[in-house]
Amino acid sequence: MSKVDEKLLKKYSSTGPRYTSYPPATFFDTNFSNEDYVEKLILSNSESPESVSVYIHIPFCPQICHFCGCTTETGFTKPFLERYIDALIKEIEFVSKKIDSKRKLTQVHWGGGTPNAISYKYIERVTNKLYETFDFSANYEMAIECNPAHLEFNHIELLKKFGFNRISLGIQDFRTDVLEGINRKPSKYPIEKIVKKIEDEGFTGTNIDLVYGLPYQTPENFSETVDRAIKLNTDRVVTFSYAHVPSVLPRQKILEKIGFPSSSDKALMYEIAYEKLLKAGYVSIGMDHYSKPEDEFAIALNNKQLHRNFQGYCTRETTGQVYAFGASSISQLDSAYIQNIKNASQYINSIEKNNLAVLRGYSVTNEQKIIREIINSIMCNYFVDLNKISKKYKVSTSDIYKIVKFKEDLLDDFISDGILNFKSGIIAINEKGRLFTRNIAMRFDPMIDQKVGTYSNTV
Ligand SMILES: C[S@@+](CC[C@H](N)C(=O)[O-])C[C@H]1O[C@@H](n2cnc3c(N)ncnc32)[C@H](O)[C@@H]1O
Ligand code: SF4
Repeated sequence: MSKVDEKLLKKYSSTGPRYTSYPPATFFDTNFSNEDYVEKLILSNSESPESVSVYIHIPFCPQICHFCGCTTETGFTKPFLERYIDALIKEIEFVSKKIDSKRKLTQVHWGGGTPNAISYKYIERVTNKLYETFDFSANYEMAIECNPAHLEFNHIELLKKFGFNRISLGIQDFRTDVLEGINRKPSKYPIEKIVKKIEDEGFTGTNIDLVYGLPYQTPENFSETVDRAIKLNTDRVVTFSYAHVPSVLPRQKILEKIGFPSSSDKALMYEIAYEKLLKAGYVSIGMDHYSKPEDEFAIALNNKQLHRNFQGYCTRETTGQVYAFGASSISQLDSAYIQNIKNASQYINSIEKNNLAVLRGYSVTNEQKIIREIINSIMCNYFVDLNKISKKYKVSTSDIYKIVKFKEDLLDDFISDGILNFKSGIIAINEKGRLFTRNIAMRFDPMIDQKVGTYSNTV
């Protein structure tokens, strides 16, 4: 087991954005209105990428896990759920009318909450609406996040029938003490049998999510968790670093009573997963994903064409501008981010009245698109070629340096610590530096000093 460099860990230990968007969601502005969204929707038809991605948010869970960072609610009733689905369909109808019908839909992602815990007739209603409304490309991807505690074998058959071809299983950890500690029910059936059923039904892919840094986890027992995950032989594995932000998510405070692994043990868990998964033949994708070498993510990484959005990693082929539906969901267009009202009841009321439910948004400037491209490339490809970005955006490299407020010594500490190399406008992050990609990205973020919002630890 290789040791994490404690000195570097201490030196670069700080809090910072996860950069699932740029600017980060903490900058979104509540002055952004429904009318602004309509304007951006129409503009998106002439922007790139041309293809359409859809995100459907189901913000309900039968039980709330104390570690969870997602917007979700519990205690919902059947009639309320019915109204929520009606609102989702109304929002899809209204928004889709503004989207050029010649644009192809390449990707649908259902997230939550726990979309697999609602009645499957609702999932069918919404997917039917999508088929009726959008022109699906022949090789579209439709994925759903499933909590195995609520997943039955016949659900997997139904999902296949509705056209899903990828399932993401939230395992987090196999151990009952860890799951009990975070108030989470274990899988109803052995995960091995669920994964086999997904394969037998002919899904093209299965993801599994693990989280490290949770109460009761140790490097030793997390190592066993990773071994068991590897045996599942899924095409993708995600190891999320637990993000603890109790000031934003009070539900997480309760975990402090149990306590967390130390930051060096947490970093060791990252290392263990990294080493074991690579040894088992997976390729490391960005900070937390792993895929089989033949997977499109690994191929995109090789070509330095990997991207990231709120739903995870994506490639230029599969991803489009993201049109998001449901409470708290975030649309990601080329020139804007738009987030819906977070509370499900207020979302429903707004859709019933106004067809839209914008809570806040952000108009991305051309300069911010350049910064976004740089940060995206650092986070996903461990590499940036500023010369290529200057060509793509038709600005000189010296202008790019001005935009990111580049100073002579900006990367000196990273270079002397062996974290990255920087020569002739090309930044290449070394293997040792992968744990610090958020710290590196922050150096290219001219808004970082504004310190808007609360962020989790970068490592
Ligand atoms: C949107 S959640 C939904 C998954 C599904 N409800 C489940 O529990 O299986 C997707 C993933 O986010 C990750 N996640 C949630 N809260 C997190 C946190 N505070 N820090 C890191 N990862 C987190 C978990 O791994 C989870 O599987
Ligand atoms: S981790 Fe999944 S099941 Fe648990 S509260 Fe979050 S969204 Fe719900």
